Amino acid sequence: MTNHLTRVSTGVPGLDPLVKGGFVRDSINLIAGGTGTGKTIFAIQFLVDGIKHNEPGVYITFEEKKEKVYENMLEFGWDLEKYEKQGKFVFLEYTPEQVRKILTEGGGTVEYMIEKIKAKRLVIDSITSFCMLYEDALTQKEAALDLFNLINKWNCTGLMTSRDISAEESIISAAMEFEVDSIILLYHVRNKGIRTRALEILKMRGTKIPEKTVALDINKKGIVINPRKIIIF
Ligand SMILES: Nc1ncnc2c1ncn2[C@@H]1O[C@H](COP(=O)(O)OP(=O)(O)OP(=O)(O)O)[C@@H](O)[C@H]1O
Ligand SMILES: [Mg+2]
Repeated sequence: MTNHLTRVSTGVPGLDPLVKGGFVRDSINLIAGGTGTGKTIFAIQFLVDGIKHNEPGVYITFEEKKEKVYENMLEFGWDLEKYEKQGKFVFLEYTPEQVRKILTEGGGTVEYMIEKIKAKRLVIDSITSFCMLYEDALTQKEAALDLFNLINKWNCTGLMTSRDISAEESIISAAMEFEVDSIILLYHVRNKGIRTRALEILKMRGTKIPEKTVALDINKKGIVINPRKIIIF
């Protein structure tokens, strides 16, 4: 059966064929994982892929420093400074408090930037620190929903990262596991003294997903997965 949902490539070699071609256009997607699992690399890789497909991107972060990210991403051949100068990429360093203002004011600088570069992809790295602004699970959920509604209004495919000690816990603390359209978990797990990287698609609306955790590697081109290599922890 053909699927009527239009897809947006993830930019991660090996991943699109597992999910009918990529993320659903204009959907909200969550990349969850512990520290160092590759969330920021995944997020930037998604935006760089967008640039190649004529879909400019905005990256909002509360944690990563611009110079550091630009320097690190050059290792993968991604010249963010160049893309920024070409008007295809915008890096926004925010405090979570400033993002709260976006919600109450309904856009502000972010909206201006999205319109200016005609952004089609939007990353928030990470949603965890944003959620921590709100005390309880319910207000967190409401704030996240407001944010998602804004992203929908902007006609962007959204990618949020979520950090915690374990991937499973991070979803719970993000308090919106039911609100996002897809959840991808990244692992960097130690077993018998060896750490292994892996990726699991936990859910994706409108998409049959493989019920297995597959090998992930970070090489000089960024993140790649090997769908034929199943990881058993
Ligand atoms: N050029 C590279 N080649 C191979 N691996 C790399 C390279 N650069 C970074 N890495 C690996 O990627 C990991 C960091 O990935 P990333 O910054 O995306 O993690 P993260 O999930 O965003 O972590 P955090 O939650 O701390 O922000 C590093 O720990 C390192 O092992
Ligand atoms: Mg990160």
